[in-house]
Amino acid sequence: MKPWLWIPAKWAHDLGPLGIQIYSKIFGQSKTPIWNAFNFKNLIFKNRIGIAGGVDKNADLLMAWESLGCGFLEIGTVTPAPQKPNPGKIIDRDLKTKSLWNKMGFPSAGAEEVFYNVRNFKEHSTIPIFVNIGKNRTTENSKAHEDYIFLLNHFSVVADAFVINISSPNTAGLRDLAKKENLDLFLNPIMQAVQDLKLSQPILIKLSPDLEIADLKSVLQICLNHDVDGFVLTNTTLSRNGLNKYPTEGGASGEPVAELSKLALKTAVQVCSEQKTKKLIISAGGVMTERDVFERIEMGADLVQAYTALIYEGPGFFRKVSHFAERRQ
Ligand SMILES: Cc1cc2nc3c(=O)[nH]c(=O)nc-3n(C[C@H](O)[C@H](O)[C@H](O)COP(=O)(O)O)c2cc1C
Repeated sequence: MKPWLWIPAKWAHDLGPLGIQIYSKIFGQSKTPIWNAFNFKNLIFKNRIGIAGGVDKNADLLMAWESLGCGFLEIGTVTPAPQKPNPGKIIDRDLKTKSLWNKMGFPSAGAEEVFYNVRNFKEHSTIPIFVNIGKNRTTENSKAHEDYIFLLNHFSVVADAFVINISSPNTAGLRDLAKKENLDLFLNPIMQAVQDLKLSQPILIKLSPDLEIADLKSVLQICLNHDVDGFVLTNTTLSRNGLNKYPTEGGASGEPVAELSKLALKTAVQVCSEQKTKKLIISAGGVMTERDVFERIEMGADLVQAYTALIYEGPGFFRKVSHFAERRQ
């Protein structure tokens, strides 16, 4: 029974945090399930499944997610200053295609509040926290790096890894930063700041599923030239194959993005395998079942994330994945 699918998507989205709190109080467990445990740099992952960017933008529910069986957590996208969602309709869903549509545009409580939420949680937990960072919508692209550098600095004492989000379709111009002709200019000051601040955390780049394969290869290679530590593939898609219900703007997620996301994963595995140092590859996009999680791992993903599956499968999804993993072991 999934009563949240009977009410409008926006209501379900607004009631979600309360539902997660209640569900985790009843079904949450104190021990993180251990399966396919894995280390990357100094990070220890007890298992390979976590929440994707946007699920807990302000790090409000970290204890709940941990108790539901996640092996790692990505919070954000966080922006330097607080900002509201885009005006108008910002979320919808289509049960037939097991998809979501959103046009949120990085609603964020801002760096200061999110920092305290993460810091308080870290006092009780060792689960790896990825901080997904983005620019405020009022920051011009020519100054975008300043927002990212501010956030790297601000979260440097609490983040276990950073995800640089340049792939959301809902902040005007953001994806331009990931175009091969702009990427060097954007990454130069950021990776210089990583050195100057002596950050030891892995730096990952989150990419879009809408890049042509040749462009994706170039973009991956440019990032590797800057010595980034890995990638999150992918964000939501602007493509509308079979998704006529949704407006042309905004990003679609869930089942319809699976093939694009798998193609991006395959490409990243290929490009990264030519590197001497191991890179961290996180697969997100259309991971809807426990089998999908293992398919991505078998394809070469180190870690796997879910957002839309939480809507269609419910918050028990992570335990379902663990039970499936235990049966396979
Ligand atoms: C409502 C909604 C909000 C999202 N917000 C963010 C975000 O703030 N930052 C981000 O990097 N990705 C965000 N995403 C993208 C997800 O992290 C994920 O990459 C994408 O939805 C594909 O995964 P899925 O098919 O499992 O949902 C959002 C997705 C949805 C559906």
